[in-house]
Amino acid sequence: MGKSKPTTLLRLVSTVAGFVFAIHLIILYSRNYSVDNLEVSSQSLLLHHHPLVHELERVEQENIHMPPPRKRSPRAIKRKPKRPTTTLVQEFLDENSQIRHLFFPDIKSSFGPTKDGGGNDTSLHHFFPGKIWLDTEGNPIQAHGGGILYDERSKSYYWYGEYKDGVTYHSHKKGAARVDIIGVGCYSSRDLWTWKNEGVVLAAEELDETHDLHKLNVLERPKVIYNSDTGKYVMWMHIDDANYTKASVGVAISDNPTGPFDYLYSKSPHGFDSRDMTVFKDDDNTAYLVYSSEDNSVVHVGPLTEDYLGVKPVMKRIMVGQHREAPAVFKHQNTYYMITSGCTGWAPNEALAHAAESMMGPWETLGNPCVGGNKIFRSTTFLAQGTYVVPLPGVPGGFIFMADRWNPADLRDSRYLWLPLIVGGTADRPLESSFGFPVWSRVSVYWHRQWRLPWGGEKEIA
Ligand code: DGJ
Repeated sequence: MGKSKPTTLLRLVSTVAGFVFAIHLIILYSRNYSVDNLEVSSQSLLLHHHPLVHELERVEQENIHMPPPRKRSPRAIKRKPKRPTTTLVQEFLDENSQIRHLFFPDIKSSFGPTKDGGGNDTSLHHFFPGKIWLDTEGNPIQAHGGGILYDERSKSYYWYGEYKDGVTYHSHKKGAARVDIIGVGCYSSRDLWTWKNEGVVLAAEELDETHDLHKLNVLERPKVIYNSDTGKYVMWMHIDDANYTKASVGVAISDNPTGPFDYLYSKSPHGFDSRDMTVFKDDDNTAYLVYSSEDNSVVHVGPLTEDYLGVKPVMKRIMVGQHREAPAVFKHQNTYYMITSGCTGWAPNEALAHAAESMMGPWETLGNPCVGGNKIFRSTTFLAQGTYVVPLPGVPGGFIFMADRWNPADLRDSRYLWLPLIVGGTADRPLESSFGFPVWSRVSVYWHRQWRLPWGGEKEIA
């Protein structure tokens, strides 16, 4: 009798462990996840066997040589005999850096439909992350902190973002670099590469100082979704004063994707402060507002009302205490993913990928999605900050990660980094809730100096 008790206990424990293991295997297979990196879903096979899709996942290294140290005066040497070593990030943040052209290549290397390819082969619609991107009229695109709407009605993509073609200045000594509000720029495209300027679709208010859109305020990260019940295009955006103390979210509507948008109001969603934000429209047409709140320490998520003009009185606090901003949400095979940044003003920091089975959470952090480049690139989102993730039609698990390489010395000259994002393969590390087994797919953003969509310039995708 005395000996049989531990045996029974052992049996019970191993049965429970076996059960948990079996459940995990079922979850892994039912979600089409890979075991030992063997792709098990036919969709993933399709994705990984297409040679041009495979090309997106090529790991590309980036070697940047630090400039030779500047000459120092004998006085400086006396004061500090050992030269302080500069890092790549310090070089990036130094507007007088000798290697600034590597981070902000000049207009000669710009790309876009009006260029004949002087150095850049643009005939195949290559993206050149970080180089100046021109619209169909040959002007640099002004759509920072932007997002993309695919409009079924016009079979076109619309890129909305901050139109920042003004002077950068500091409203006071310690204030962040800023450009007065000009408005929301809109560009249209059928291939995600050739962008036609549709103008400023929501303009700043020049005179009325009490207006949210008065030019001395802040309008950031505009995102547009379409409401098929009301037939309205609804824009949500971060609205603030110059000191970022108003911390609100603004709403505007239009009958057309190209505006003009009518500004309705700003709100404190759920009674809270709201800074960086995004909206995400799910397959069932439920839309969600996701915003950094509680002084950027927590992210809030909640559904919008049916007309998309307000928030329902339901909200979940996620990534509590993690200080994340710049949320960008996307969905793949019934799993929701989000990429966020840390909070360091205009300076770059490490991106994190998160996943959830429901928009309302719980959300789990997967880790840094950046692949390739070099160590510094990976720990700074390739010296940029995410803003939106666009699904690639016909490429299951394939997306474009859109990011801004901010230039706080001249914000209008901030650059766009569009890079392939692939959902596939097992996540780096098992998560707390997964009993030691990975349950999420990996999210990878691949660095490329130059890349193109699998169908390149061969056809319109819209
Ligand atoms: C980081 C945010 O992500 C940007 O949208 C902008 O608000 C800057 N901070 C301002 O410093």
